Amino acid sequence: MKQDNTADKNLTWHHHGVDRTDREKLLGHRGATVWLTGLSGSGKSTVADILAEMLQERGVLTAILDGDNIRHGLNSDLGFSPDDRKENIRRIAQVAKLFSSFGVVNLLAFISPYREDRDLARSIHDENDFVEVYVEVPLAVAEQRDPKGLYKKARSGEIPSFTGISAPYEEPLSPELVLKTHEFSAEECAEQVLEVLVAKRIVPPVT
Ligand code: ADX
Repeated sequence: MKQDNTADKNLTWHHHGVDRTDREKLLGHRGATVWLTGLSGSGKSTVADILAEMLQERGVLTAILDGDNIRHGLNSDLGFSPDDRKENIRRIAQVAKLFSSFGVVNLLAFISPYREDRDLARSIHDENDFVEVYVEVPLAVAEQRDPKGLYKKARSGEIPSFTGISAPYEEPLSPELVLKTHEFSAEECAEQVLEVLVAKRIVPPVT
C-alpha cells in the first residue's frame, strides 16, 4: 500500500490565483466525473466515445479515461489483484477529481468491480460532480460479444481472476443511472447520460 503523507506537517496546500470558477466561466460548463462501471464488454468505452462526440459538438471539454488505455501508461505497473484494482481506481479517481476541478467533464470507463473503490472515488468528489453510471448487461451478453476474445481465454483458464468469470463484480446499489446496452443502442445510452448531465446542470441545455 502506498503511504498517505498528507499528515506530514511539511506539506502546505497552495491556493492558486486562477481557480475552478474562473475556468468554468471560461468553458461555459461545470467540471464533473461520469463514472461508467460494468463488466468487460458491457459497452462502457463505446458509450464514452459517443458521449464525447455529443459533448464536443456542444462545446463541452471532455477527457476520456479508460482502463485499457490508462493501464498502458499511468497504471502500467498494476495487475488485476483486488489490491491492484483498488490502486488503479484510487489513482484514476484522483486524476478525475483534478480534471473536474479544471472544469473538464471526465468520461471514465473502468470495470471498477468493487463497491468500496467506487465509493471512494465518489467520496473525494463534490456531491454534484460525480455521476455513477452502471452499464448493465447480463454476463451472457458480454461473453457473447467478447470483443477482445478475453472471456474465451478466461473460461479456458488462460486469464486468471477475470471479472465475471473468476473474479467478482459488485453491482452499484444506487447509481445515478443504469444503462442497458443490450436493450438500447449505444447512441440512445449516450443520450440518456447527456440528459442526466443537463438535469444536473453540469452542461447547459441546447437552446
Ligand atoms: S479494473 O477492474 O481495475 O477497473 P480496468 O477497467 O482498469 O479494470 O481494466 C479492464 C480491462 O483490462 C478489460 O477491459 C480487459 O481488456 C483487460 N483485462 C485483462 N485482464 C483482466 C482481468 N483479469 N479482469 C478484467 N479485465 C482484464
